[in-house]
Amino acid sequence: MDFTFTEEHEMIRDAARDFAQTELLPGVIERDEKQSFPTEQIKKLGELGFLGMMVDPKYGGAGMDSISYVLAMEEISKVDASSSVIMSVNNSLVCWGLEEYGTEEQKEKYLKPLASGEIIGAFCLSEPEAGSDATSQKTTAIDMGDYYLLNGTKNWITNGNSASVYLVIAQTDIEKGHKGINAFIVEKGMDGFVVGPKENKLGIRGSDTNSLMFTDVKIPKENRIGQDGFGFKFAMKTLSGGRIGIASQALGIASGAYELSLQYSKERKAFGKEINKHQAIAFKLADMATEIEAARLLCLKAAWLKDNGKNYDKLSAMAKVFASETAMKTTTEAVQVHGGYGFVKEYHVERLMRDAKITQIYEGTSEIQRIVISRSVLK
Ligand code: CAA
Repeated sequence: MDFTFTEEHEMIRDAARDFAQTELLPGVIERDEKQSFPTEQIKKLGELGFLGMMVDPKYGGAGMDSISYVLAMEEISKVDASSSVIMSVNNSLVCWGLEEYGTEEQKEKYLKPLASGEIIGAFCLSEPEAGSDATSQKTTAIDMGDYYLLNGTKNWITNGNSASVYLVIAQTDIEKGHKGINAFIVEKGMDGFVVGPKENKLGIRGSDTNSLMFTDVKIPKENRIGQDGFGFKFAMKTLSGGRIGIASQALGIASGAYELSLQYSKERKAFGKEINKHQAIAFKLADMATEIEAARLLCLKAAWLKDNGKNYDKLSAMAKVFASETAMKTTTEAVQVHGGYGFVKEYHVERLMRDAKITQIYEGTSEIQRIVISRSVLK
């Protein structure tokens, strides 16, 4: 077993680290406070190839592997988890879904601009009454012959306002349960499609999360993804890879908080010595480092399985549940290590603690990950 990264992996990680420090760090506190979308920064991320990292270059992507994606997600998330969720949704949920299951025409028309970062996309599964219970879709798409008629509401949609292209999951035949669900490509500006107000969130406040309303939106037949009835499996398969992205985001939030704590512990003195000379702080740093390393290995193993064409459903769920719990624990301890300074915005760790919480909720709560893992180990 070889744990060394290739030169290319290291270059990608360094490029992401450099971008995070030079482009994302300045202004990150203000964007969080004002809930302002990182428009310029996302444009630059796209130019660097970070919005379509794993997409084949013939469709405008960077042609990298999932290991590179984990490394880049960790570095971006150390500094700005709002930017990294925008990046993760575009890469794993939108671009991957289209490249894997889209038609050639769909790839030409939608994947190319999405992978090159010209536009960004959103993935729309959650509803007011169907978040975890994804088979209970209330949004309907009725087959009208030449087109589908889409009606319903989606909730908690990342990139809700900033996206131009939306992958929308809807029920086409209630009698068939999950086999009567389909996924559609919906464009912003289609008649009857309205973006609701932006949510005022605890964390990842620089990203936009909105509800979406569809009233008699006409979706051309050619915008359905895959065979009739493939929508639920499309969502499950796409989310499985998405969980590698969110696990890596959680990993980055944790390692960002750890690095800040380590640095602070070398500078801050109490009782006549640096605080890391006190075992109470040294042991916290030891636990943080250990759990982060374990989370990183889970993320990388899930990515390796994906890159090698093996099933990664269980590992991506394990990576997500472990990394997100590590993020919550590490960031809370990071605030503790910083004492009063940890409670104010200038020191970044309070933001990382707020950002960590969502990683236990979106793209499947920790409870959902445990359903996936337990079903896999018990079968
Ligand atoms: N790959 C392929 N097929 C899969 C699959 C996978 N990973 N997981 C399930 N399936 C298939 C099953 O095999 C089954 O098919 P058959 O009947 O043909 O055998 C079918 O899908 C139904 O599966 P289940 O019976 O397991 O379905 P369930 O109702 O018990 O649900 C669940 C399983 C794991 C709980 C699933 O509903 C789930 O993952 N829920 C969470 C959804 C989620 O993550 N929501 C939030 C995402 S969106 C978001 O966060 C917004 C954003 O902007 C980021």
